[in-house]
Amino acid sequence: MVAMDGPSGTGKSTVSRKLATKLGAGYLDTGAMYRMVTLAVLRAGVDLADAVAIADVARKTELGIGTSPDEAAVTLAGEDVAAEIRGADVTTAVSPVSAVPAVRELLVARQREIIDEVLGRVGGIVVEGRDIGTVVSPDAPLKIFLTASAEVRAARRSAQDSAAGRESTHAVAKAAVERRDRLDSTRAASPLRAAEDAVEVDTSQLDIDQVIVALAELALHRGLLEGCPAEAAR
Ligand code: DC
Repeated sequence: MVAMDGPSGTGKSTVSRKLATKLGAGYLDTGAMYRMVTLAVLRAGVDLADAVAIADVARKTELGIGTSPDEAAVTLAGEDVAAEIRGADVTTAVSPVSAVPAVRELLVARQREIIDEVLGRVGGIVVEGRDIGTVVSPDAPLKIFLTASAEVRAARRSAQDSAAGRESTHAVAKAAVERRDRLDSTRAASPLRAAEDAVEVDTSQLDIDQVIVALAELALHRGLLEGCPAEAAR
């Protein structure tokens, strides 16, 4: 298992998916799970300051999350919400929702179940998030903490938004990146931080393929590729 943590805009999702494909492993996007709960909370019209009501919505939400690195199935009670969870409303509201301890407890338990199931069935999984190496899987054999300067991360987020047809400017993207970093790293429940035994990789000056090469090398050294279906393709 590979735990992939770090703030947004570091290339975490692309890197995690590509690495999972290269290793022949499964993939879990835990951020999508927090986003799905946030969408359910917004749809329920719940006050974002009401932690009890938020936890209640989270408990009743039927989350469906795929674990294939090729197609990320994301459903809410069977409805495909893959595009909607990336929208501005969810992105703004996700920090307060993911700061609610009962939401984290619920999702962490669900994430551990999914990880166990995929490890048993596929043999490996790359899990991306903020607290994977520190809380969800503190025993993960390889923990990566991806970083990049706020400037670079804002440029990437803005390009992503434009490509997806969402309105975006660099200044707005930078403010949003910095705001979310601040909220995610200062919250009381499982703040964003690198695990002590995580390998920190700064992606500011690297393209995705260079990051993948470096990480696959690390996985090889940790013995994570033994018996792995994709080993022959290295
Ligand atoms: O990776 P992302 O941008 O889709 O994550 C959305 C939000 O969810 C992010 O602001 C922080 C939160 N999150 C979290 O608290 N813990 C995780 N393991 C993953 C995401």
